[in-house]
Amino acid sequence: HRILLLGAPGAGKGTQSAKLADEYGVEHVTTGDALRANKDMETEYGTPRSFMEAGELVPDPVVNEIVEAALADADGFVLDGYPRNLDQAEYLSSISDLDAVIFLDVDEEVLVDRLTGRRVCNDCGANFHVDFQPPEVPGVCDECGGELIQRDDDTEETARERLEVFYENTEPVIEHFRDEGDLVEVDGEAPPDEVFDRIRDVLDE
Ligand code: AP5
Ligand code: ZN
Repeated sequence: HRILLLGAPGAGKGTQSAKLADEYGVEHVTTGDALRANKDMETEYGTPRSFMEAGELVPDPVVNEIVEAALADADGFVLDGYPRNLDQAEYLSSISDLDAVIFLDVDEEVLVDRLTGRRVCNDCGANFHVDFQPPEVPGVCDECGGELIQRDDDTEETARERLEVFYENTEPVIEHFRDEGDLVEVDGEAPPDEVFDRIRDVLDE
């Protein structure tokens, strides 16, 4: 399987990609996590951190290189967080073919609630939400006992900036795949397991 998962910030791409990688035994390739792990890497454009903390896109050459290396090593994959603009989409089509393109559709106000309430494990990266997916013990990771923290870019102000960037840069990517006839839309406003069942139905068709 070579699966592309598209959606706005907070749509549930990370949550669903992790489940898909488990279920189908494919690599989870995510530019967000890759960039967070290399936040302070020096590039000719500056560090990824400077862009990410402002909610802006990291420059294409940096991101394209990360994706190309990750896909070259992967047999099958679920790709999440890329492409985020038309240039990245063009680059992707030059390096890989896709079997499925899925767009997780979620309303803007729901996205803001999901982003500002998200907590992530500082040790293993697992995702939680203070209301929608609360950990058993507040502030503690169910998986590994690590500390749960809020991402720098999940403040309301930066979350809204990221949504602006999405509507401006990434919606045209979604239109592009829709025009090509490759896009399958999945309603992402349901509990995670239900959304996962919907995605699985699409893939198993
Ligand atoms: P990235 O890490 O990709 O962030 P994003 O696209 O903004 O996506 P998120 O991780 O915020 O959301 P998600 O859709 O994965 O949702 P999640 O499953 O966590 O990118 C971060 C930054 O890196 C960018 O701003 C940019 O600077 C840079 N970057 C990354 N890729 C780039 C690229 N290609 N080019 C340039 N720059 C790039 O869910 C969110 C919350 O909701 C969680 O708390 C979760 O528990 C909860 N939740 C999930 N599903 C449900 C559900 N069904 N019901 C209720 N709650 C749910
Ligand atoms: Zn953990």
